[in-house]
Amino acid sequence: MSKLIKVLKLESDCQRGANQNRSRALVAGGAGFLGSHLCERLLRDGYDVVALDNFHTGKKNNLNALLRNPRFMCIEHDIVNALPSGLRFDEIYNLACPASPPHYQADPIHTFKTSVLGSLNLLELALQNNAKIFQASTSEIYGDPFVHPQPESYFGNVNTHGPRSCYDEGKRSAETLFFDYSRTYGLNIRVARIFNTYGRRMQPDDGRVVSNFIVQALQGKDLTVYGHGLQTRSFCYADDLIEGFVRLMNAPNAPAHPVNLGNPSEFTIMELATLVIDYTNSRSKIVHRPLPIDDPRQRKPDISFARANLGWEPKVGLRQGLARTVEYFDTLLYGGQLAKGATAS
Ligand SMILES: NC(=O)c1ccc[n+]([C@@H]2O[C@H](COP(=O)([O-])OP(=O)(O)OC[C@H]3O[C@@H](n4cnc5c(N)ncnc54)[C@H](O)[C@@H]3O)[C@@H](O)[C@H]2O)c1
Repeated sequence: MSKLIKVLKLESDCQRGANQNRSRALVAGGAGFLGSHLCERLLRDGYDVVALDNFHTGKKNNLNALLRNPRFMCIEHDIVNALPSGLRFDEIYNLACPASPPHYQADPIHTFKTSVLGSLNLLELALQNNAKIFQASTSEIYGDPFVHPQPESYFGNVNTHGPRSCYDEGKRSAETLFFDYSRTYGLNIRVARIFNTYGRRMQPDDGRVVSNFIVQALQGKDLTVYGHGLQTRSFCYADDLIEGFVRLMNAPNAPAHPVNLGNPSEFTIMELATLVIDYTNSRSKIVHRPLPIDDPRQRKPDISFARANLGWEPKVGLRQGLARTVEYFDTLLYGGQLAKGATAS
């Protein structure tokens, strides 16, 4: 059963928005880290925005400021289930899916259903509304890649039956569905393959490497590095990624394939840990733990397509983005003790 968090007359409200000639956007997963930034951006761009979220990993706090905006509403709903009736949209963004390994592995069957049944429900809604629809896919499509950096043409190297497969294979299946809806019904689709993204509104217990390291360092705990820490990742700041989402959605022609969005600067996990210790003035040590199953050894997007066709590339480097993210977690957890000059022990 869906719960409307704000605005009771959903159907009439949807009609009213349409009559006023403003574009209406649905953001599934709108209470999450990236989803809340996207809702904020779309409201700034003049859209009426509806966030749909089951609050599995998303937080109502992420929407506090937005809920004061009369052009925003939020519906509590799980996209695995039939969507509420009366929804009318011009654009649909599907960001709904837990994204960090501890969260998506906690209920792997539901994670898989979210990508497959959830995508199907949203694709049907797009079809009924003749709406454009965007899918937040992932660099996990490439698995543990043999091609480096990864261009969109690389098919990937993914385990079908490991603990990460519910997420990786769910997202691969969702890509298949999106392109089949495009070929079968001519639906206007946009599929972004997102590489590791970090920034404000990540949750302290999110379980992804950037938030883990910053929270551990601020708490004066050891930073947990899996394996030797020589595996690489490419880290994109959230604001840059959201700009890429909007450019991809607004591109006049739908790309005939998924589009990589990420920051091509590549860092080892040890380099990241050292930077975080520096930026938090922490005396934390680095400890090593066994590598998780199927942990990718390297990740770096080839973003030539996005550069050439969307005029997009990231602007915020890792050092600048980390400084902002450390400040966010410091304020969230300790009311800004670093800014006040205190040092984690
Ligand atoms: N942040 C990244 O580095 C990254 C990288 C690759 C892909 N992505 C994709 O981007 C999207 C957003 O990721 P995020 O980092 O903001 O993660 P997040 O966990 O903060 O956000 C996901 C949101 O989806 C909601 N959700 C999950 N399952 C749902 C369901 N069945 N029905 C309705 N809502 C549901 C959650 O409550 C949450 O608000 C995800 O689809 C993720 O797979 C993110």
